[in-house]
Amino acid sequence: MEKTAVITGATSGIGKAISEKLIKNRINVLMNGRSFSETIETKSIIQTKYDLLESDTPKKLLDIAINKFGKVDYLFVNAGTIESASIENIDIEKMCSMMRLKVESSFRLIYTFLKYMKPLDSGHVFIMSSVLGTKTRENSGAYAAANYALEALAESLRMELSDTNIQITCIEPGLVRTNLHKDWPLHPQELLGISNALKPEDIADTVIDIMNKSDYIRIPKIMILPKGHRI
Ligand SMILES: NC(=O)c1ccc[n+]([C@@H]2O[C@H](COP(=O)([O-])OP(=O)(O)OC[C@H]3O[C@@H](n4cnc5c(N)ncnc54)[C@H](OP(=O)(O)O)[C@@H]3O)[C@@H](O)[C@H]2O)c1
Repeated sequence: MEKTAVITGATSGIGKAISEKLIKNRINVLMNGRSFSETIETKSIIQTKYDLLESDTPKKLLDIAINKFGKVDYLFVNAGTIESASIENIDIEKMCSMMRLKVESSFRLIYTFLKYMKPLDSGHVFIMSSVLGTKTRENSGAYAAANYALEALAESLRMELSDTNIQITCIEPGLVRTNLHKDWPLHPQELLGISNALKPEDIADTVIDIMNKSDYIRIPKIMILPKGHRI
């Protein structure tokens, strides 16, 4: 039977790469992101442009996916931004917006989709955290805090869902070359002295590997780092 995935943050970077890999693997996709210039709709793809800071977006995404494809098997909670500075110097409004996106909207998405998956006793939720969901460094307190929140939710869900057929996987990438740092004066690849950052496709390949595992195997979290990323 055909499978369906809903992916947030699908206009660029990791979410786009995951969407493309799923399409190649004949999985139907609902791709969401505000900056699609024109949204496309085909038999197996639908693109939407909802703002995840609107509280009704998760329900809209679920309803559209079910209307179009009949069901949802995978949810990728991936959209995010990054604000990095010491706490007294950070842009507090942008920081709060990042918190709302990475924490509030992720919790709302999972809350909404689990209410759908639970009665079916089926589904897999992938949560895009970060290596900065397990540790922090100077000027990263806010971004790390947002990812720590996702890790806490993922760890509770792992236990709450352990006897069900619903899986949780929290992904902890190190540096991936995407649009995330596009406004930084110096890219972290140079700041951290990493010769080869990960490519978004590296994360997408890992997702496919996890999806192809037997159902009795659980991968609640996975860290993926480029060589030389000491953090
Ligand atoms: N790149 C890294 O080094 C790295 C490492 C670890 C973890 N991560 C995590 O990976 C995730 C994906 O990031 P990325 O690196 O792929 O960055 P990216 O290329 O900047 O992608 C971010 C995505 O989030 C979407 N988004 C932002 N604000 C949104 C909003 N209000 N409503 C709906 N969608 C919104 C963007 O779409 P629109 O702007 O079109 O809406 C875009 O598709 C993030 O959660 C990030 O924290 C990244």
